[in-house]
Amino acid sequence: MRADIVVLPGDGIGPEVTAAAVEVLQAVGLRYGHQFRFAEHRIGGAAIDATGEALPAATLEAARRADAVLLGAVGGPKWSDPKAPVRPEQGLLAIRKALGLYANLRPVKPHPAALGASPIKPHLLSGVDLIVVRELTGGIYFGQKQRGADRASDVCEYSVAEIERTIRHACTLARGRRGKVTSVDKANVLETSRLWREVATRVAAEEFPDVRLEHQLVDSMAMHLLAKPREYDVIVTENMFGDILTDEASMLAGSLGLLPSASLGEAGADGAAAPGRQIGLYEPIHGSAPDIAGRGVANPYATILSAALLLRHSLGLEDEARCVEKAVDGALEAGVFTADLAPAGRGVSTRAATAAVLEQLQLECQPVVLRD
Ligand code: NAD
Ligand code: IPM
Ligand code: MN
Repeated sequence: MRADIVVLPGDGIGPEVTAAAVEVLQAVGLRYGHQFRFAEHRIGGAAIDATGEALPAATLEAARRADAVLLGAVGGPKWSDPKAPVRPEQGLLAIRKALGLYANLRPVKPHPAALGASPIKPHLLSGVDLIVVRELTGGIYFGQKQRGADRASDVCEYSVAEIERTIRHACTLARGRRGKVTSVDKANVLETSRLWREVATRVAAEEFPDVRLEHQLVDSMAMHLLAKPREYDVIVTENMFGDILTDEASMLAGSLGLLPSASLGEAGADGAAAPGRQIGLYEPIHGSAPDIAGRGVANPYATILSAALLLRHSLGLEDEARCVEKAVDGALEAGVFTADLAPAGRGVSTRAATAAVLEQLQLECQPVVLRD
C-alpha cells in the first residue's frame, strides 16, 4: 500500500524519538512492500521560532491531507515564560481539536522484562493489561480562560454529545477485551462529573448491556491504580484526569518512555478531512524531556509503539503493527534498556535501542511478500 505520513518532531527529545520511529516504519515498508512517504512539518516551539505560530497553517493543511500523523513532543524552558504570547503546547491542543481527535487511547501493559524498572512490587504487575480512553478535545483544557490582575479562571465544560461519543468508544473497546469499563470522575464535587456519570450510565445501559460499567472517583482511582492495577480493563475519563492518571500509570510499565498513544476521531465529525475519512495522530504520552534532550539517550520505544498503533488504526496493517510490537518486546527481552529503564549509569543510547528493534524486526516479521 501507499501511505502519506506527516511527521511532527516538535521539541526537545521529539526529533530524536520520531527519527527512531520513522526508521522502524521504513524498515516495515521495505519488508512488507509498502510505500510510506514521510513529510516533516513544524509544531510547537520549533514552529514558534520559525513562524511565530505554534501550529502553522501549512502544518495543519499537511496533516489534513495525510493518511496519518506521527508526533514527538512539544515544549521546553525556552518557551515557558508565563507571559509569552504563544506557547508550544497550544499547537498540540490546536491540532487535536482541528482534527476532531476526541478519543486518546493510552494502553498500559507492563513488560515482564522491564518489571524491575517499576517502583511497584512485581507481584502486583503481572497480568496488568489496561487501556485508558482519555477525552481529548473538551473539558478544562478548552473552556474559556481569563486572567485578571488578581485572579484567573479556566472553565471546565462538557456537552452530553462529547461524553456520549467518548463512552461509546470505551465500551466498544471493552467488547473486544474483558468487557469491563471503569469511568472515572469527581461526581462528588463537579457538575461536569455528575453529567459525565449520568451519561455514562445511560449509554452503557441502553447500548452496551453486555459491558460491565463501574464508576470511580478520581482521587481514590489514583490510589487503586497502583494498589490493584490488574483489576482494570478499560478506564474512561475526562481530559485532565486522563492526562494525570496516565503519567501515573506509566510507573506500572516502568517509564514514561514506554507508553504510546493513539488519538482518534470519527469520519464525518468536526475536523474530519472529508466525509468517510479520519486522520489519526500518534504520539508517546511523554513530553519533550528537556532534562535529557540532545544527548541521544531518550527511550524511543513509546514512539515506536505509537508507530505500531498508526499502522493498526490508520493504515489497517494489523500484521505489521504486531510485528513492530513484537520487535519492541524482543528488544526488552534482550535487555536493551535506555537509562530510564536501566540501573544507574547503564543505559544504552536511543540509536542502540532503535538498532535492537530493527534487528528484532528481521527476526519477527515475515519475509518480503509484495502486496498491492
Ligand atoms: P516530560 O514527560 O517531558 O518528562 C518527565 C520526566 O520523564 C523527565 O525526567 C524526562 O527526562 C523523563 N522522560 C520523558 N520521556 C522520556 C523518554 N522517552 N526517555 C527517557 N526519559 C523520559 O514532562 P515534563 O518535564 O513535565 O515536561 C517537559 C515539557 O514537555 C513541558 O514543556 C511540557 O509541556 C511538555 N510536554 C509535552 C507533551 C507532548 O508534547 N505530548 C507531553 C507532556 C509534556
Ligand atoms: C500530553 C501532554 C499535553 C496534555 C500537554 C503538553 C498539552 O501532557 O499529551 O499528555 O496535557 O494533553
Ligand atoms: Mn501529559
